[in-house]
Amino acid sequence: RIAGPCVLVIFGVTGDLSRKKLMPAVYDLANRGLLPPGFGLVGFARRDWADQDFAKVVHDAVKEHARTPFREEVWEQLLEGIRFVSGTFDSDESFERLKKTIVELDTTRATGGNHAFYLSIPPSGFETVMSQLAKHGLVERQPETWNRVVIEKPFGHDLASARELNAVVERLFKPQEVFRIDHYLGKETVQNLLALRFANQMFEPIWNNHYVSHVEITMAEDIGIGGRAGYFDGIGAARDVMQNHLLQLLALTAMEEPTSFEASQLRAEKKKVLAAAHVPTPYDRHTARGQYSAGWQGGEPVIGYLEEDGVPADSGTETYAAIRVDIDNRRWAGVPFYLRTAKRMPRRVTEVALAFKRAPHLPFTATDTEELGTNALVMRIQPDEGVTLRFGAKVPGTQMEIREVSMDFAYGGSFTESSPEAYERLILDVLLGEPPLFPRQEEVELSWQILDPVLEYWASQPGNPEQYLAGTWGPESSFEMVARDGNTWRRP
Ligand code: BG6
Repeated sequence: RIAGPCVLVIFGVTGDLSRKKLMPAVYDLANRGLLPPGFGLVGFARRDWADQDFAKVVHDAVKEHARTPFREEVWEQLLEGIRFVSGTFDSDESFERLKKTIVELDTTRATGGNHAFYLSIPPSGFETVMSQLAKHGLVERQPETWNRVVIEKPFGHDLASARELNAVVERLFKPQEVFRIDHYLGKETVQNLLALRFANQMFEPIWNNHYVSHVEITMAEDIGIGGRAGYFDGIGAARDVMQNHLLQLLALTAMEEPTSFEASQLRAEKKKVLAAAHVPTPYDRHTARGQYSAGWQGGEPVIGYLEEDGVPADSGTETYAAIRVDIDNRRWAGVPFYLRTAKRMPRRVTEVALAFKRAPHLPFTATDTEELGTNALVMRIQPDEGVTLRFGAKVPGTQMEIREVSMDFAYGGSFTESSPEAYERLILDVLLGEPPLFPRQEEVELSWQILDPVLEYWASQPGNPEQYLAGTWGPESSFEMVARDGNTWRRP
């Protein structure tokens, strides 16, 4: 799987994402021999940079964030195809220069006239960029060449805006030319959900409401919002990661087996399960939101959300969000899926946990089983990648005493192969034109359909979200939410 000749144009190349993820991913691909010699990288942004200035930025980003070791010969090869276009979205002259640059690369680097446009910019800029690309003939379809567009979430801020945004993009690009990045789908451990479920015989028979009591999908981050208020405030935790990453995790966990991992089959199954999912009412009972206040993290005092730089003192944006999702189908009826995400939790951890029902009968005395929890299968997405099975075992000794123990699979212990970073995998797939790991528009819309009523309900509530101390597992209401169903959140 080596990409063919092409040019990758990144709009918004001076942003954080580009520096921390995109540029290092391009280098790592080159370093692993997955980019062809005929490759060009064009940065487009407002900065008044020359090609060399941009190359220096890429170089520094690679040195700091790339996964693979720095090799001079790989860098030199990449450098030959690096260009920068200083310009603004509304300037015709900038897009003429962009066109010239691309044509020059097509010729000097033999990039085959294949172009991927990566929009690492706020959605408000999409319309202008699309019309400029069209106006300047940058998306002309020649036989044997391709044009693709890559867009980053948030795909809109609700269902209506997601549809508008899509209409803007699909005015110029055909659906199969649009690659929507949800970087969670690029993670090895997320793809392993499919391997675990469908490559094995022993999990699927118990993967249903006969055996599963509830499912918890947690994406906890220890970081606060420092430096990202401009993006985050007004979006909030639910729009930022629940609409995309967490609902995609839910879809992969709950969907039926696809006939193959071909994009249309995989997407069809995800779509089916998302269409059957909803947050039950009343929303005050089955959802919770919160905002972190000053607290402690790793032994250090940290400020509250409202004190963060760039956050309005009266901001009502949630930094904690939890919802219960019910799935109306035969497999899952009666099994709540709890989704939670937050900033400033005690630790960074993402996991999908299936909590199983208790055995229908325990032939032990009550004291024998005091330390027996419920069986659980935990897919550890990050940072400690692997899978844990929790079950009861006899405590050594003369009594029949049972205690909960774990059986662990750790990526690091079982594989010597190194994992590509999510963006590396996804950028390669864009250049190869392989769509299975990219959600299609219907999935985006279904996710908004699940979340929209909750967001509307939250917006209609007077007062700000409940506060939780930074470095704790969230507001009181989040514990009450699961307790109402007789459940408790796991402490990952
Ligand atoms: C992004 C969100 O999509 O995911 C960020 O916008 C979040 O707010 C990030 O911090 C987390 O990604 P990861 O891969 O570190 O879990």
